[in-house]
Amino acid sequence: MSYSPDPGRYDSMAYRRCGRSGLRLPVVSLGLWHNFGSVDVYENCRRMVQTAFDLGITHFDLANNYGPEPGSAEITFGRILKQDLAAWRDELVISSKAGYYMWPGPYGEWGSRKNLIASCDQSLRRLGVEYVDIFYHHRPDPDTPVEESMLALDQIVRSGKALYAGISNYGPERAAEAIRVLRELKTPFVLHQVRYNMLDRAHERQGSFRLLQEEGVGGIVFSPLAQGLLTGRYLDGIPADSRAARNGFLKADSITSELLGRIRALDAIARGRGQTLAEMAVAWVLAQPGVTSALVGASRPEQIRDIVAGLSKLDFSAAELAAIDTVLA
Ligand SMILES: NC(=O)c1ccc[n+]([C@@H]2O[C@H](COP(=O)([O-])OP(=O)(O)OC[C@H]3O[C@@H](n4cnc5c(N)ncnc54)[C@H](OP(=O)(O)O)[C@@H]3O)[C@@H](O)[C@H]2O)c1
Repeated sequence: MSYSPDPGRYDSMAYRRCGRSGLRLPVVSLGLWHNFGSVDVYENCRRMVQTAFDLGITHFDLANNYGPEPGSAEITFGRILKQDLAAWRDELVISSKAGYYMWPGPYGEWGSRKNLIASCDQSLRRLGVEYVDIFYHHRPDPDTPVEESMLALDQIVRSGKALYAGISNYGPERAAEAIRVLRELKTPFVLHQVRYNMLDRAHERQGSFRLLQEEGVGGIVFSPLAQGLLTGRYLDGIPADSRAARNGFLKADSITSELLGRIRALDAIARGRGQTLAEMAVAWVLAQPGVTSALVGASRPEQIRDIVAGLSKLDFSAAELAAIDTVLA
């Protein structure tokens, strides 16, 4: 079936500026880390991307290694782009990243100029595009000078292979160093991508969001649902089709009764707000100053619809925030 996007797709989605840059992102972005690999059902992947775009989600987040097998999420997205979205390329923000293990030998991971530039070229080929909108260094490299990695990002942007640069998983000190270098180079640098959710507030504690606000850089937060924990998914056991059942990045034995107790208490607060827990989890990260977009994952189109439906209630009362803090303490 041929696809034509919903003409009302920009009617209700909110867009926030990445720091002080000109680039705006939807408050919810879709990540393709899980469920878009060569092992997954293509038609479901396609429906998820179509659903997202129909709801005003213009930003799709990838990385060289997403799959399985590594690289296959970019191939899947490239196929959907060609089949359904080629005419709308200028309405899309596509990002990719390099830094985690991708190929054998000394150049297949981390942060050397050699790795980042070669990996970007590979991603463009898999995606079938001439450029990505954002290219990130995926994780800090303790053994490569920040200047080398940032110069590689700068070169990638200046050679037209990406429009903007980003970093991911940097602690605030290293992020500050990267920002200083990129500022000196005048690289269009827009985003820092970090994990942030009600169960993991490390970047909030460490001052990452404060830094981003001071520096005028956007923050995009991944795993806002804690990989599905902050939803109703696990309240009655571990469903066979869930991420925890696959026991990969989310381990079934990490879902302890103590954790479930806290999730149930959060679920009750969400219901008191007239929301699902998943909806409240997204609203909660978006309430953190310095956050531009919540980068969610999904395994089916309905989940994306649920999350977007919850965007109609983003505000929290002081009492609700205090109740959440008490559960998380
Ligand atoms: N920079 C980095 O190092 C890094 C690391 C990790 C992720 N990321 C990015 O962040 C993206 C999102 O990460 P994530 O997948 O961990 O995010 P997440 O949004 O915390 O978790 C997504 C999972 O939550 C469940 N879910 C989603 N919507 C739901 C709903 N409405 N109701 C019930 N369950 C729902 C689904 O689980 P089921 O699959 O069980 O249905 C889905 O796969 C990734 O795709 C990637 O782009 C970046």
